[in-house]
Amino acid sequence: MSDGDVVRDASQEAGEAASSSRRYFLIQATSAVGAVGAVGAAWPFVMYWTPSAKARALGAPVRVDVSKLAPGEMLSPIVAWRGKPIFIVARDKATIDALKVDTAELADPDSVNPEQQPDFAANAWRSERPEIGVYLGICTHLGCSPKHVVSNNFEDTGQGGFFCPCHGSKFDLAGRVVKGVPAPDNLEVPPYRFESDSVIIIG
Ligand code: FES
Repeated sequence: MSDGDVVRDASQEAGEAASSSRRYFLIQATSAVGAVGAVGAAWPFVMYWTPSAKARALGAPVRVDVSKLAPGEMLSPIVAWRGKPIFIVARDKATIDALKVDTAELADPDSVNPEQQPDFAANAWRSERPEIGVYLGICTHLGCSPKHVVSNNFEDTGQGGFFCPCHGSKFDLAGRVVKGVPAPDNLEVPPYRFESDSVIIIG
C-alpha cells in the first residue's frame, strides 16, 4: 500500500465520521423540535382539562358555623355551595318527634329514592343529627327556591316546612315532599359532615 492510499483512507474515514456526526445532530435536533411541537400542540388541551382556580373554588367544600342557630330557625343569610342555596334548619325535640310520626301525607317518608340523600340521611329527619337539617334549597319540580315556613302553612302537620311559591309544592321540615304536589321528590341532601358540634363542612 502506498502513502497516497493511507492518506486517502484516513481522509475518507474522517469524512464519514463528520457526516455521521452531522446525521446524528440532525436527528437529535428534529426530535427535539418534534417534542416541543407536540407539547405546544397538546398545551391547549391540557389547559382545557385543568380546572381554573374559580372552578375549583366553586366546587370546594363550604365551612358553616351554626353555633347561633336556634331551634325553629333557618340559617340566614343562606349559604351557597356549588352556586346552589343550602338550607340549614335547627329543630326542637317536638319537631324531631313529629317527623317520625307525621308521615301519612308524604310521598316518600322513608327516603326510598337514593338519589336524594347520602346514606347517612335516609332516616325520618333526613340528616346526620336530628336537631340540624341540611338541604339543597331547590324545588325538585322545576328548580325554584322554596321558602322556609316556620309554622302553620304546612297545614297537614302544623310543624312548618318549606313551601315553593312557583307551583305550590310543599315539603316538611326534613325536606320530604307532600303527596299530590308538582314536585316529584324530596329536597336533595348535599354531602356534609360535622367538623364539631357547631361547624358543618358541606361538600
Ligand atoms: S318549581 Fe317548585 S312547585 Fe314548581
